[in-house]
Amino acid sequence: MNAPQSLHTLLQPGGALSGQELPHESAVLHVTGEAAFTDDLPELRGTLYAALVTSPVAHGRLVGPHNGVDKAALLREHGVVAVFTAEDIPGENNCGPIVHDDPFLAPDEVNYIGQVVAVVVAREMVYAREAVKKARLRIEPLPAILTIEDALAAESWVMPSKRIQRGDAAAALDAAPHRLKGSTRTGQQEQFYLEGHITYAVPREDGQLTLYSSTQHPEGNQKEAAAALNLQTKDVEVICRRMGGAFGGKEGNASIFSQSAALAAHLLKKPVKLRVNRDDDMMITGKRHDFRVDYDVGFDDAGRILGLDVMLASRCGYSMDYSGPVNDRALLHIDNCYHLPNLSVVGHRCRTHTQSSTAFRGFGGPQGMFGIETVIDEVARHLGKDPLDVRLANLYRASDDPDTLTTQYGQQIEDWVGDQVLAEVEARAGYRARRAEIAQWNAGHTGRKRGIAITPLKFGISFTATLLNQAGALVNIFNDGSVAVNHGGTEMGQGLNTKIAQLTADELGLAMARVRVTATDTMKVPNASATAASSGFDLNGAAVREACRQLRERLLPVAATELGCSAAQVTFADDAAHGPEGQRLPFATLASKAWAARVGLSQTGYYRTPEIGYDPAKLFGRAFYYYCYGAAVSEVEIDTLTGEWWLTRADIVHDVGRSINPALDRGQVEGGYIQGMGWLTMEECLWDTKGRLLTHGPSTYKIPVASDVPEAFHVHLFDGANVKPTPYNTKATGEPPLMLALSVFFALKDAVGAVAPGAGPVPLVAPATPERILLAARALRA
Ligand code: MTE
Ligand code: HPA
Ligand code: MOS
Repeated sequence: MNAPQSLHTLLQPGGALSGQELPHESAVLHVTGEAAFTDDLPELRGTLYAALVTSPVAHGRLVGPHNGVDKAALLREHGVVAVFTAEDIPGENNCGPIVHDDPFLAPDEVNYIGQVVAVVVAREMVYAREAVKKARLRIEPLPAILTIEDALAAESWVMPSKRIQRGDAAAALDAAPHRLKGSTRTGQQEQFYLEGHITYAVPREDGQLTLYSSTQHPEGNQKEAAAALNLQTKDVEVICRRMGGAFGGKEGNASIFSQSAALAAHLLKKPVKLRVNRDDDMMITGKRHDFRVDYDVGFDDAGRILGLDVMLASRCGYSMDYSGPVNDRALLHIDNCYHLPNLSVVGHRCRTHTQSSTAFRGFGGPQGMFGIETVIDEVARHLGKDPLDVRLANLYRASDDPDTLTTQYGQQIEDWVGDQVLAEVEARAGYRARRAEIAQWNAGHTGRKRGIAITPLKFGISFTATLLNQAGALVNIFNDGSVAVNHGGTEMGQGLNTKIAQLTADELGLAMARVRVTATDTMKVPNASATAASSGFDLNGAAVREACRQLRERLLPVAATELGCSAAQVTFADDAAHGPEGQRLPFATLASKAWAARVGLSQTGYYRTPEIGYDPAKLFGRAFYYYCYGAAVSEVEIDTLTGEWWLTRADIVHDVGRSINPALDRGQVEGGYIQGMGWLTMEECLWDTKGRLLTHGPSTYKIPVASDVPEAFHVHLFDGANVKPTPYNTKATGEPPLMLALSVFFALKDAVGAVAPGAGPVPLVAPATPERILLAARALRA
């Protein structure tokens, strides 16, 4: 069943540029420093600078006038022009992207250390930053809930828990020949985009406002700033040419800053720049949700999972932010690539007095998948089997029973190639032979141990909120034949605009040099979703393609007249329109002829993802348009006396469908894998007992660097195509590769386990820092 139609019939004709390894459209500008980020824009005369006063207390009541802020004292500081608090907001005080439960300036209560209470505006940035250091706040402290454990005990939730049930987990557990219980956890992760949060807010005539913001969601900033200032959406324009990285951290969180800047600019009628430093950025904004995962699994002698009961609990912080869909996505990815016939999984969304956890590449998926991969790993350890064999025993598979390709949320997997991808990386890496070699090597070494692991991944593509799966575009052809493309997506380094330019050029038969993808601008394409859920190209590319299709149709009669043939005979390629007998009309000529003939050369495009339909309340239905697959083999060596470790080799096979730009896609795969490795091994948020984040800069928070990339790094793009008609039959590439890094964690666990083979569960949780590796090795030895 589910055999895809012949790929040949599904593939759309690609033009000359699709599939080519073109460099990122801004590569040269990035390297020369010419690429304009928000902070590089020339400042207008009279520009003022803002800095933020933040709460030093995890939970407390703001008392006294001015929301607990001594405004008069701040106004006496050198160079300070104005101080704004919640009382100055004329409209709605909210930066919550889904539920409006999140004030951008604390009104009467503070709920985490780092929460913004006041905006201080000064003549120079240093004056603003110096002033906020001296801010005095009147706060009556209240008890704080800081950890998942505290929250579970207090039943402190940001929203009700949700559960997915399939089959009868309890009965299957009771009947299973083997049963294991355990608990594990994953850590928080800071997005650590290189360019920090920034907005440059410029007031315009008649109360209008332009926000130059580093944001994945210009429309969100626009809407929220308008609501805060009692303006209409039409009066606020948000522009973002590019971000210096985002990784989910600028999906909702940018509006904390854009609204603060907008408020100051609007009230002062002066341009205001707000650029926070790294420490403030890390103290104020949300991180990846850390999770606790408790499991109870029943299985047979082959390691087949017969029944599974899982509790997921995540630290959501003080407000909802994206915690609803993040935790839903964890529940929707608890299966990863495995058929779990009897499953009960519950997701608790813990409210704590910490930053509101937010989107981060994978959006809950990685945490769910970490849960099931831990279960598989421990089942294998219990049975003394190679974890690969337990993985294979549990994989989804095509059979006479459609249930073996049905997820716990009732979606049929129509494009299953997870088994092929896994088999390919196993073969390419020589996994079985190397496992044997490693076992032999370990037998001869005590201080050092090696480990290897192979993990598959399956990641669902679509926003789980069905309404977000839509996009718009505006394509303008000028009468010199050059083309400006606008779409609702944003460029954060992932290469979206390069892919869009390739697609546009091919759709109109143009050379790349003729196409410019413009800055994202809410006045050109309205109501755009955030560039997130890895669907930037699927959605915006399809909207651009639709606009190009309509433009082509309008140009055809003009071309036919000029070429002396019928419209049906005209083709577009090589920067020209062509007739059947070799006639050629340069595109520039065609554009000017069309203009002279008074043919409209500007066209919008619109797209919405078909087929999907899902009930988020019941967590049931077709949540995803399609799936991406991948698999990786990682090998590590650990020093059991120091906990140091080295990633010695990585082999990856990753499915990006038919790649429109393999160079960009390979970059996403490599970067995702390394970023995932950072999450699982070295990035660690540490807290003091009062709820203060201690790791708020690069000196204490370690992200992977170039030297952490394995010397042997073999990345291979799976030879496949999307069975769905996405532009060029590509698949999304943004988030899925992050989960390839699960193999690094389980390789480390394998290496630690080699310290005392057969000694039972390996007590290693994520992040597997050198300290944890050392402690786990010690515990096993004891
Ligand atoms: N790649 C780079 N270089 N920088 C980023 O900020 N964000 C990731 C991913 N890859 C990111 C990135 C995340 S979280 C997402 S959702 C996707 O890119 C968004 O872009 P896309 O939908 O165009 O893939
Ligand atoms: N993924 C990523 N970002 C999102 C989603 C999602 O499913 N929903 C809302 N924002
Ligand atoms: Mo990505 S976490 O969906 O911005």
